[in-house]
Amino acid sequence: MTANKPQSPDERLQHEFNRWADDGEGAKMERHHLDITEKTMRRMDLRPGERVLDLGCGSGWATRLLARMVGEGPQGFGQVVGVDIADEMVRQARAASKEFDNVMFIVGSAAQIPWEENFFDKVLSVESFYYYPDQDRALAELFRVMAPHGRLFILINLYKDNPYALQWVPKLKVPVHVRSAAEYVELLKKHAFGNVEYALISDDTPTPDNYQTTSFHSLDDLKAFKRIGALLLMASKPDVRNPAPGYTIY
Ligand SMILES: C[S@@+](CC[C@H](N)C(=O)[O-])C[C@H]1O[C@@H](n2cnc3c(N)ncnc32)[C@H](O)[C@@H]1O
Repeated sequence: MTANKPQSPDERLQHEFNRWADDGEGAKMERHHLDITEKTMRRMDLRPGERVLDLGCGSGWATRLLARMVGEGPQGFGQVVGVDIADEMVRQARAASKEFDNVMFIVGSAAQIPWEENFFDKVLSVESFYYYPDQDRALAELFRVMAPHGRLFILINLYKDNPYALQWVPKLKVPVHVRSAAEYVELLKKHAFGNVEYALISDDTPTPDNYQTTSFHSLDDLKAFKRIGALLLMASKPDVRNPAPGYTIY
């Protein structure tokens, strides 16, 4: 790419998250997201044999947890696909997953998920969805790749109803969406998802008194942020074999 060529929103995300990966942030995120992700996985009712997508998988730690939960069983051999826009994240994810034979990582955008339609039984997306420049298009893509009756789990720390999260928006180098839980519910319904609901998932990990935070104004604000918790959006793809009204294949 030439120096003066303007970057597309996806190129900007790729550039920024490759930088995170180079700084070792990919693997570090496990520490910050593990508690809320494990609580989410318990709600996912994962079974051996299922096909799962981890969208915005980063360094792949959650993808590997999923792979262990859907591995070989009476229902067959489960498969987990991690997709991320940052090729350096994907490189790290692959390097850390060599002993897994039911995991695959692909560089790709939520705007064009590189997979066939009607495939995934479950989708998990951790701390990624608010970065997607076109959330409508990402939801249309998720709808496309999910199997009929498939279940979607979107977990995000940045949303309007947790005011403490808004403290770190100015520190981000890429644009983000800040919507309320109610607004996200409407968005999912607009995309023909069914059983749309949400839950707040508190982060119950202890915060040491000497913990240094640059993201929050104070340790008390960080603790309040963790107490209110992350937003977990849950929805199902109805049993539609034909495209829903207004549904576009990109
Ligand atoms: C905050 S990190 C979270 C990573 C991982 N889920 C975790 O919890 O460790 C956000 C991830 O979403 C990815 N991402 C951002 N925008 C994306 C897009 N449009 N399509 C696919 N991945 C995207 C980033 O590259 C990054 O790895």
